[in-house]
Amino acid sequence: MQADFLVIGSGIAGLTYALKVAEAKPGKKVVVVTKAHSDETNTKYAQGGIAGVWDDENDSYQKHIEDTLIAGDGLCNEEIVEIVVKEGPERIREIIEWGAQFDKDDFGEYSLGKEGGHSVNRILHHKDVTGREMERALLNAIQAKPNIELITHCFVLDLITQHHLGYLVTKSTLDIECYGVYVLNLESNEIEKIISKVTVLATGGNGQAYRTTTNPKIATGDGVAMVYRAKGRIENMEFIQFHPTALFEPGVSPSFLITEAVRGDGGILRNRSGEAFMERYDERRDLAPRDIVARAIDSEMKKNGTEHVYLDCRHMNFEKFVHHFPNIFEKCMSIGVNITKDMIPVAPAAHYSCGGIKADAYARTSIRNLYACGECASTGLHGANRLASNSLLEAMVFGHRAYLDSIKHFEEMEDAHPAGTNWGGTNIPDWNAEGTREPKEMILITQSQKELQQIMSDYVGIVRTNVRLARASKRLDLLFEETEDLYRSTKVSPQLCELRNVISVGYLIVKGASFRKESRGLHFNTDYPQKSLLKENIIL
Ligand code: FAD
Ligand code: SIN
Repeated sequence: MQADFLVIGSGIAGLTYALKVAEAKPGKKVVVVTKAHSDETNTKYAQGGIAGVWDDENDSYQKHIEDTLIAGDGLCNEEIVEIVVKEGPERIREIIEWGAQFDKDDFGEYSLGKEGGHSVNRILHHKDVTGREMERALLNAIQAKPNIELITHCFVLDLITQHHLGYLVTKSTLDIECYGVYVLNLESNEIEKIISKVTVLATGGNGQAYRTTTNPKIATGDGVAMVYRAKGRIENMEFIQFHPTALFEPGVSPSFLITEAVRGDGGILRNRSGEAFMERYDERRDLAPRDIVARAIDSEMKKNGTEHVYLDCRHMNFEKFVHHFPNIFEKCMSIGVNITKDMIPVAPAAHYSCGGIKADAYARTSIRNLYACGECASTGLHGANRLASNSLLEAMVFGHRAYLDSIKHFEEMEDAHPAGTNWGGTNIPDWNAEGTREPKEMILITQSQKELQQIMSDYVGIVRTNVRLARASKRLDLLFEETEDLYRSTKVSPQLCELRNVISVGYLIVKGASFRKESRGLHFNTDYPQKSLLKENIIL
């Protein structure tokens, strides 16, 4: 298949990009592929909302910039923070025009929520299912674009680069180029190639590297792993954000989130003895940035030998609670927790990847013709810790910026390689499956996946040490070798490819964490409890 613009991922980043490019280039073909159903994305599960400066009286760009920088603990790229904060409201207006509805108050003004690390109320939301509403609006809008083809159940295996034309490509190769991707069509079970002059990775997060996560099954870091295999640059992978309050429900995966907006509306964290313990950790108490709250909960759980703490909402206005959080109310009731009488058992869960594919102010990666936006990218916005509700915003701002740059890039490519002439994407060989056979034992894959999650949760979690990281590294080496053997000898399947990808992601997290000889933001190593004076990004 040939595409003019190829987008991998149907979450907020991929769909924002696709809509814009399809609008600007109505005669060109935009192909969006996704490995699952069209809406099975991290986006769909977003609860709290999207941050943006909306209330001119009480808020300002400067305040949002400062809150983002404070949360990022010294590692944000200030130029990028300013871009996102200032361009954000315009992007939010666009999604409203595409049909997304956000809650309003009795005066018809947008009702703005508050979450950890925000100095004022600035979060637009749709009840407690904001992501579902935004995803719905975006999927609806792309249906009206005849030049967008959305292909579901199409698993992208690898980026096509000069490597596939027989050239040696290493980390020091200059001008690595992307010509498209190899995909496994999950309906025909055939491996096909999609050739494109512009490819955009919007493949989302990697929470599935951990045993307890809020992320759905699709979040296996495929984009990051593909870029790493293609010798592109990856950055700051050690900054994994653990959400402080996932519902504690043993054996259930992914974990159901209790949005931070509940604490924004007055919810209080308590330990086993009923103490509101956050007072002892930070003057901002329950609304301190996420890294601080998650570490405080981890510490309380370890001290008290418990598997969770509690979120107390009993004192909150019941009508207001049910109005703002109907989904959470229903979920709690379904497991026998009545929020008017019972406290909600909660524990931290892997939630968001702040690092990822290194991308610049226009979402350009280190590989030519390849862009990255959304959670899979590392733009410099989040630094060492993301401010709540800044990621939907970042995805839209960089979906837009990728579109601005890529249409220019596409035009230059068309001029340099008019139709009918050769370019790198001509004569790409078919996928070589020689010497592989049908998989015999699925257990080899499922067991390795469990082992990976166990290693990452036990040794590379909220609190790290040198010994734990060294141990994780050794265990991952073994898993990597076993999985590569399996990959070389077995016909590819999504399960095997996801395992391979998530092992690469685990390796990159451990590597980043081992290189960072300090504690900063989400990375806390008891062997280096202080922040280093040198503020550096770890590029792998
Ligand atoms: P996603 O929405 O995850 O989309 C990824 C897409 O890539 C999917 O379509 C997937 O199928 C596809 N894909 C991946 N690999 C492949 C492959 N190999 N082949 C083909 N397709 C592939 N952020 C906020 O700002 N506010 C919130 O309130 C908020 N709440 C959250 C609540 C939860 C429970 C979770 C999990 C996250 C939340 N976040 C929130 C984070 C935010 O939702 C995500 O960071 C954001 O939605 C990511 O969007 P994306 O477009 O980058 O990726
Ligand atoms: C939440 O609603 O608590 C999640 C918000 C986010 O991840 O930004």
